[in-house]
Amino acid sequence: MKFFIDTASIEEIKEIDSWGILSGVTTNPSLIAKEGRVFEDVVKEISEIVDGPISAEVTASECDEIVKQARLLAKISDNIVVKIPITIEGLKAIKILSKENIKVNATLIFSVNQAILAARAGAKYVSPFIGRLDDIGYDGMILIQELSSVFKNYNIDTEIIAASIRNTEHIHKCLLTGADIATIPYKVFVQMIKHPLTDSGIERFLSDFKDVKSKGGF
Ligand code: E4P
Repeated sequence: MKFFIDTASIEEIKEIDSWGILSGVTTNPSLIAKEGRVFEDVVKEISEIVDGPISAEVTASECDEIVKQARLLAKISDNIVVKIPITIEGLKAIKILSKENIKVNATLIFSVNQAILAARAGAKYVSPFIGRLDDIGYDGMILIQELSSVFKNYNIDTEIIAASIRNTEHIHKCLLTGADIATIPYKVFVQMIKHPLTDSGIERFLSDFKDVKSKGGF
């Protein structure tokens, strides 16, 4: 499973990129709005930092407008993936754009049916939202499990980006389930590396070593 970061913050992207584990970035209109900058400028800057796919979302709802925005976004850089919400107009746009070799990430996926339609229309990625399903009383992980086996059953090579991740348990389960990618908020990346036994272990090693250090050496 590859790791993407779900943010539009340049600082967060640079920090996680420095860990050597980052394969891509996803943004959405809410994340971009939080940065208070021009949309295209943020997307361009991100695409210059990270080599892998950078998802930038369209804000139009009619097919023609979606296609127009998507073409402009795709021109920003070779690694831009256009994120399109899964609607009928979105599907029509995915069909047109995939024929032009513009990569699409079909977003706001909440069912296997939505995902299979997006994949068949030509989406390179689908983004099922785990956390938002959990929020309304469903188990979002079931969608990831079902999608993984459906895509396997029918040899579909559209990649599954597990999105709307809220905690480390989501990631652990995605790894066991077979999601291709998890797009993770900064704070969850930090939680992934933390373990109280690691912290207390380091503390004990350092305090046991104090006497050795007092004898010299580097
Ligand atoms: C996915 O690409 C979305 O940007 C994101 O994961 C949404 O997550 P949220 O439900 O925490 O807003």
